[in-house]
Amino acid sequence: MHSGGHFSLIDQLKENENLPDEGLRALLRDLTDEEETYLYQTAAAVRQEAYGRDVYMRGLIEFTNYCRNDCLYCGIRRSNRCADRYRLDRDQILDCCRRGYELGFRTFVLQGGEDPYFTDEKICDLVRSIKADHPDCAVTLSIGEKEHDSYKAMFEAGADRYLLRHETADPDHYAMLHPAELSSEHRKACLRDLKEIGFQVGAGMMVGSPFQTDDHLIADLRYLKELAPHMVGIGPFIPHKDTPFRDQPQGTLKDTLHLLAIVRLMLPKVLLPATTALGTIHPRGREMGILAGANVIMPNLSPAAVRGKYLLYDGKICTGDEAAECVRCMAARMEAIGYRTVVSRGDAKH
Ligand code: SAM
Ligand code: FES
Repeated sequence: MHSGGHFSLIDQLKENENLPDEGLRALLRDLTDEEETYLYQTAAAVRQEAYGRDVYMRGLIEFTNYCRNDCLYCGIRRSNRCADRYRLDRDQILDCCRRGYELGFRTFVLQGGEDPYFTDEKICDLVRSIKADHPDCAVTLSIGEKEHDSYKAMFEAGADRYLLRHETADPDHYAMLHPAELSSEHRKACLRDLKEIGFQVGAGMMVGSPFQTDDHLIADLRYLKELAPHMVGIGPFIPHKDTPFRDQPQGTLKDTLHLLAIVRLMLPKVLLPATTALGTIHPRGREMGILAGANVIMPNLSPAAVRGKYLLYDGKICTGDEAAECVRCMAARMEAIGYRTVVSRGDAKH
């Protein structure tokens, strides 16, 4: 244990003390190299208390890049005429799960744009089929904002978890990133519904999104603490060339790692992925994320033919690899830093 300066802020956060805004700001901005190392080591120790050196793998199936929304940062927004649109059919999706199961995945994450083709009925049928084929697996949905009753039907069909990043907790900042028909209030209401229905819920935000300030990030941290989600998805914003934010700077590695570590300290048992976006801005980004307190990775299980089409941002990694290659690659990368990928559903510890 160190004393004084920012070391004590890190210790206070670990002891579950509520830091004032200046304390959180200092952890984001003012750390010396030594203090930064201590932040990551403390976060890694807290994650090891709950999860040891296990890294949970989720098989990500990006099943449609059609989207009715027009989020300004997103490469698959409806206004992007250059996006090469695709959707996987039921058999292709079930086939991805079968191959994923053989590779050791016990969680499947179905992610997509808000594609009206995939009605509640189709989603529920998919969930039921996956659960019938693989009763020992968890199904996670990440398909955007729906009505309460739609979420309920999906939960009753067997979906276990739902990822819906809140994107930014500040309503004014939210309005700068989204068209007028989308609101922070509705996004947060969806998260409340999902939690109340019984899903394990994931929220989260991009780091370095356009117009983001430290106050916004502090509001995000407070919102996450209050929501207490099972999962938190944090990755850097990366511009996409065919969006209005094409010339905006990308989020930094340092900021993302700081936030991962802070979230680990604030929510010790949370499931925290080292995201593909983090791996995109730095060749060892995901390893550094794990070493800063993350405990989940989400290799892509989508068929190779469509991999290169789910492009939320420029430069996305792993678009040419087969799923089996990704699994081997991630296992080797984790082993090289003293961690290990495991075959399990990887539920949050209570
Ligand atoms: N449609 C669903 C939704 O809105 O939650 C899921 C798909 S959406 C593409 C998944 C996440 O990608 C978003 O929550 C957002 O944070 C992230 N994302 C989109 N564009 C991005 C960008 N340019 N850089 C980094 N992350 C991005
Ligand atoms: Fe819909 Fe990005 S705008 S997924």
